[in-house]
Amino acid sequence: MNATTSCRVCRGPVEEFLDLGRQPLSDAFRLPDADDDEFFYDLRVGLCGSCSMVQLMREVPRERMFHADYPYHSSGSRLMREHFEATAERLARTELTGPDPFVVEIGCNDGIMLHALAERGIRHLGVEPSAGVARVAAERGIDVRIDFFEEATALDIAATHGPADVIYAANTICHIPYLDSVFRGVDALLGPGGVFVFEDPYWGDIVEQVSFDQIYDEHFYLFTARSVQAMARRFGFDLVDVAALPVHGGEIRYSLARIGERTPSGAVAALIATERERGLDRSATARRFAARVHRVRDDLVTLLRDLRAQGRRVVGYGATAKSATVANFCGLGPDLITFVSDTTPAKQGRLTPGSHIPVVGPGDFRTARPDYAVLFAWNHAEEIMAQEDGFRAGGGRWIRYVPDVQTV
Ligand code: SAH
Ligand code: TYD
Ligand code: ZN
Repeated sequence: MNATTSCRVCRGPVEEFLDLGRQPLSDAFRLPDADDDEFFYDLRVGLCGSCSMVQLMREVPRERMFHADYPYHSSGSRLMREHFEATAERLARTELTGPDPFVVEIGCNDGIMLHALAERGIRHLGVEPSAGVARVAAERGIDVRIDFFEEATALDIAATHGPADVIYAANTICHIPYLDSVFRGVDALLGPGGVFVFEDPYWGDIVEQVSFDQIYDEHFYLFTARSVQAMARRFGFDLVDVAALPVHGGEIRYSLARIGERTPSGAVAALIATERERGLDRSATARRFAARVHRVRDDLVTLLRDLRAQGRRVVGYGATAKSATVANFCGLGPDLITFVSDTTPAKQGRLTPGSHIPVVGPGDFRTARPDYAVLFAWNHAEEIMAQEDGFRAGGGRWIRYVPDVQTV
């Protein structure tokens, strides 16, 4: 268990603290009759002893994850649509107030955020390598470039569109191992006084809630304010603001500006101090987290085996990328979970990656009337439980595993 590698950000020593086993691509939903070999890799995670960046020990080639059939459509959740409309409104009000402002979004997906800026007539460009979701954005009237954001892309955008006032990304910067190239690109594209804003799942929340399912192929980094500050400074930027967001189980929105251009808010130092008190930069904390992950696995597997022994019908709710980590780490298959319900058409009729559980639509969930449903989309609990109020009313029970295993 003492494997080490070198940090993708600072080249310091990364010490492994958790092995989540052999895993498939988290968003590779398979056709039932697929006969190609499924891709697997070892999902292991470590902590950099120098800059405290939490990162995967192994990188999956980006083209395997982000391509024309990438099935994750951001606009599938009402909560997230509202969140990004509020984000757009805020950016328009605070950062995009000059003459003819220009905003670039890295990983715009189906345009969930940019459409609200496009409707305001704000000059924008989404950079999105997954052509299927990019096309959905384009059909909504958003300017999209089907590409990976990196230094060369940024140089080209700067040459054709001029400097950006804001570069924004949600749930995307943590997906990109090659952040040195991204930062060189941001430096080339961002105009003087501009701001680079990104929001991603927060390692502090993951540790607190033992939400180990936030660790999967696409989430190469799990950020803290301290690790983001160290990274920013390495590339000529500074962390000038942080804000906690109540989405995806707890995220932080980081605002970066070139060193010396903006005064960091008190929130930055305060959050970094809290992280130090919590020991988030220490390997002992990481190892304690790993022990709690194993406990959750044991509890969940025990519960599901007991329910099967009692003849209860158990299904899953939400074919999330996160659920691939849970299902494959815990060895869950169709013997324990009959099907998983999900609203995404691109996932329905397919099998979950690695665990090969059929994905069905919510209509099938309602007619099947199962006894228990594992809430894989726990970050959308409120929205889902409201939609499925008939499930509990009819005697069904939810199984949650964040922060611990319980039926509700
Ligand atoms: N911003 C959306 C989408 C997040 S999913 C949201 O918060 O819901 C992550 C997205 O990043 C995917 O659509 C993926 O195709 C895209 N992506 C991955 N690598 C990228 C890169 N190097 N540049 C731009 N987008 C990238
Ligand atoms: P999400 O938790 O946003 O992300 P990830 O795949 O990165 O873990 O995924 C939510 C999934 O749950 C998505 O496939 C859509 C599905 N879903 C439903 O089936 N019903 C719902 O009401 C909501 C909000 C989501
Ligand atoms: Zn490092």
